[in-house]
Amino acid sequence: MRVVEAFRAAYGASPQTVWRAPGRVNLIGEHTDYNDGFVLPFAVPWGVTAALTPRDDDTIRLLSLQSGSGEPVTIPTHADAQGWTRYVVGVLDMLGDKVRGADIAIDGDVPQGAGLSSSAALEVAVASALNDVHALGMTPMELALLSQKAENDFVGMPCGIMDQAASALCEEGKALFLDCRSLGSRTIPLDLASHGLSMLIIDTQVHHEHAGGEYAKRRAECESAARKLGVAALRDVTDLAGALAQLQGDERKRVEHIVTENHRVEALVGLLRAGAVTEIGALLNASHLSLRDLYEVSSPELDLAVEASIRGGARGARMTGGGFGGSAIALVPLERLESVKESVSNAYAERGFKAPRFLPATPAQGAHRLA
Ligand code: GLA
Repeated sequence: MRVVEAFRAAYGASPQTVWRAPGRVNLIGEHTDYNDGFVLPFAVPWGVTAALTPRDDDTIRLLSLQSGSGEPVTIPTHADAQGWTRYVVGVLDMLGDKVRGADIAIDGDVPQGAGLSSSAALEVAVASALNDVHALGMTPMELALLSQKAENDFVGMPCGIMDQAASALCEEGKALFLDCRSLGSRTIPLDLASHGLSMLIIDTQVHHEHAGGEYAKRRAECESAARKLGVAALRDVTDLAGALAQLQGDERKRVEHIVTENHRVEALVGLLRAGAVTEIGALLNASHLSLRDLYEVSSPELDLAVEASIRGGARGARMTGGGFGGSAIALVPLERLESVKESVSNAYAERGFKAPRFLPATPAQGAHRLA
């Protein structure tokens, strides 16, 4: 294994453990996680591998096979960190005095900037490896929560639980239905190929600068609306018309998206459990329109990916993840794959957009030990 060889070359011994954690796409349930709602992600075949040996001092040595120098960087535990190293140092920081330092080598193959949660994969891989070598006995959900806390409190990104939970808990061939309030989850078989279908990821390769600020703004709007409606979270809105009558402007639109999106997740889960996977396309399309018009987190590239893939023969499509760039997913009959790709590529060329990248998304295994 490449990461093990790199670890040995850098630190002069074999790692004590090696863990792999994947990125994710979300089938449906967008921006619902921090509203105590429902999500339905699945893990993608790309992820992060972390080789690790604990140290008995307060030093982290960190090597990435993807970042420039090929030499490990040395960072004191609990110190400020920069760039991608924050996700690792943050996880160690959140574990407090349960751990000291570590020698770590990281290898990753999540396409960068595609919005497939490479940062959650990194956090969960490192958290799982530390849990293993220190025999902390944490469950996958506890590791996801720890990773989310690192991202919220150390990195400063106010994300929900979806990405880390998907990376920690998903199973091969299945989607993960997660209730973000109770944290109860259930895996649901997602066998697209047996229905003559595939899920195509369309990576716009565009990520808009203001995404982080807009994310925090949406979250604040939802919290403000919940306060006005007198509910703990927008998950609790049962009378949508009544709620909308009490709100105005952006908050009104945000609430309409969240409440209807939660219904769409439940409806989609119902279809999957009934074996009606060919019928989910309309829900994907409705989710996209709601994210575009009510939640306002789409982008011209994402909208065009969705429109052009449907013109090319997709059964449904939507942006996936936080938005403002990143990827769309399209549910495509196998025999239409080439025509969908051609339709999207041509539409992008006509508009003068950077060529998109296409990735096949088959539901992969969540975090697991490799060695
Ligand atoms: C990002 C966040 C998640 C979730 C999605 C939107 O991926 O990290 O917690 O809020 O956006 O559904």
